Amino acid sequence: MDSRLRGNDKVGFGNVTDIPKKNVPPVETLLQSIHHGSPDRVNEAFAQWLAANNEAIATTTSLQDLESIRVANTGKSGAVTLLLKTLGGMSPEERQTKGPAIHALREAVMAALAERKAALEASALDARLATERLDMTLPVSAGRQGSIHPVSQVMDELAEIFADLGFAVATGPEIEDDWHNFTALNIPETHPARAMHDTFYFPDDKAADGKKMLLRTHTSPVQIRTMMNEPPPIRIIAPGRVYRSDSDATHTPMFHQIEGLVIDRDIHMGHLKWTLETFLKAFFERDDIVLRLRPSYFPFTEPSAEVDVGYTREKGRRVIGGSEGWMEVLGCGMVHPRVIANCGLDPNEWQGFAFGTGVDRLAMLKYGMDDLRAFFDGDLRWLKHYGFRALDVPTLSAGIGA
Ligand code: PHE
Repeated sequence: MDSRLRGNDKVGFGNVTDIPKKNVPPVETLLQSIHHGSPDRVNEAFAQWLAANNEAIATTTSLQDLESIRVANTGKSGAVTLLLKTLGGMSPEERQTKGPAIHALREAVMAALAERKAALEASALDARLATERLDMTLPVSAGRQGSIHPVSQVMDELAEIFADLGFAVATGPEIEDDWHNFTALNIPETHPARAMHDTFYFPDDKAADGKKMLLRTHTSPVQIRTMMNEPPPIRIIAPGRVYRSDSDATHTPMFHQIEGLVIDRDIHMGHLKWTLETFLKAFFERDDIVLRLRPSYFPFTEPSAEVDVGYTREKGRRVIGGSEGWMEVLGCGMVHPRVIANCGLDPNEWQGFAFGTGVDRLAMLKYGMDDLRAFFDGDLRWLKHYGFRALDVPTLSAGIGA
């Protein structure tokens, strides 16, 4: 196939040396002028070809088209390449007269190609930037958002309230040994209180040091670990997961507790009562919180009390506040001297109070949920309804509740 331009060639599957749709004289006119023409004839043919070729280059609209012109000009069988090849067959004199014209043509073609390439690349970039521009004024779609589980929310609320009273948050392992979970807390091997807790024991029940391993039944072992590791005075709360073999509408085998411990030289039950009252008022966000301490029994406290909080009925619902009826919410007491001694402290020097309550139960009372099992079903509809927005962090100044 010759290299003549075929203006009606719509699809570019032709000879690659063709320059699409442009009236560039065929390369033979250049070759002929080299072989047979006078220098004037050469210059004229070259100038004509160059003008048409430049025009073809200048009017390309895509890098792809420009590339096919480049191939037709300087590719393996392109016009410029063929001209350069003729230099090899020339006598030195001929090369001296015609060589410069060929090299000048080559320079001119390269320069025109480079210039057009830069221009096309710049406008391609402009076009891309125009399509990729971000409109910062477009409203953002809300997207899917998770929510904070009521248990996490209430734990955060409690941490905030107790932090304000000077309590630190302490944590400990959920897999415990029976010494920290029971023995150190004055619950000896044969004590019926161990049965009260319906404990999950691990089947290979001997740890390396001969202790029985279990899932902690309360967060009281965190109190033991704190008393053994930190010098008094101590003011901590211990929130976390606990486990008991129990399951109905108000009991799940795993639930959440928060316990408090204060150890100092002159702590008495008055401090305990004030602390509980202050915390419950802040938590339920009511001033009319009424407490009733009933004498009770826990092996690790002496004296011990169960705490009821008064409620009133509003539209058939029980609402915390007032004293139409009573609901048990807490266990508490003065830490048993034997527990203090078990942790290596002198009970004649140090004393204090402890209390424990269910986080899930507090959440149910405050936010009006009635089936504990729904807490752990992972039903998204429930979570959407009872969950809290991630940025609603409870603070005393902005409100503890949501
Ligand atoms: N540890 C007790 C329980 O789990 C709660 C409690 C803690 C009672 C501290 C009194 C003092 O039932």
